[in-house]
Amino acid sequence: MKKIVFLTGAGMSAESGISTFRDSGGLWENYNVEDVASIDGYIRNPELVLNFYNMRRRELLKVQPCEGHRLIAGLDDQYDVTVVTQNVDNLHERAGSKKVIHLHGELMKATSSDNPNDARCVVDLSEESIDINIGDKAKDGSQLRPFIVWFGENVPMIEPAIEEVSKADILIVIGTSLNVYPAAGLLRYARRDCEIYLIDPKTVNCPDNYGITYIRKGASEGMRTLINDYLIK
Ligand code: OAD
Repeated sequence: MKKIVFLTGAGMSAESGISTFRDSGGLWENYNVEDVASIDGYIRNPELVLNFYNMRRRELLKVQPCEGHRLIAGLDDQYDVTVVTQNVDNLHERAGSKKVIHLHGELMKATSSDNPNDARCVVDLSEESIDINIGDKAKDGSQLRPFIVWFGENVPMIEPAIEEVSKADILIVIGTSLNVYPAAGLLRYARRDCEIYLIDPKTVNCPDNYGITYIRKGASEGMRTLINDYLIK
């Protein structure tokens, strides 16, 4: 079975109705990234940060996976598929993808402020207990916080992601501006004979321009093109 690795970003979920970060009208136009998505911002004003992610979580409950998410999940029968995503939503899982690596954490999980990467402190949030509030405690007694990798923090899932990319026969990058490292550096780990496709309606500045096939379309239409014109030969 051929191994396909997807690397997805905010554009993957744009058609589901979740804003991207750096497009016009994107989240970072309305919020200061340093305030709401950095460890320093959280230390300065935890309530602001908790509220920001409480809002994101409430938005997530209202949206559904798009056709692109479903087409990716549908490949599980014919390929050994791993999805490496920078997205903190759970739309790949809800579409049915079996193997998903979240580089930047998961919106529907919470963890300890003192030991964010201690698996024993990670808990699931649900529709019934959707918010994290000041005073909510993790297992170790510290303030509960979103299970999100903020700027200024380690990215523990980068190691398993590198391992997956380095074994891929086919690497498909969808909806990421490739601005944020270490995620953007994953392409470098692709084998020389790995086929690389990049699906994005805009031109993405790709530092390593080695034989990438560009599909300049949105995630769903781009996935249809990929499957019909490139995968099914
Ligand atoms: P960006 O907002 O930087 O990039 C989104 C990409 O999606 C752009 O290249 C768009 O052209 C593309 N796009 C827009 N609509 C699309 C569609 N319908 N189909 C396909 N692509 C589309 O988002 P990311 O690269 O994911 O991290 O951002 C990376 C990280 O920066 C995020 O995980 C987040 C952010 O700060 C943290 O918060 C830690």
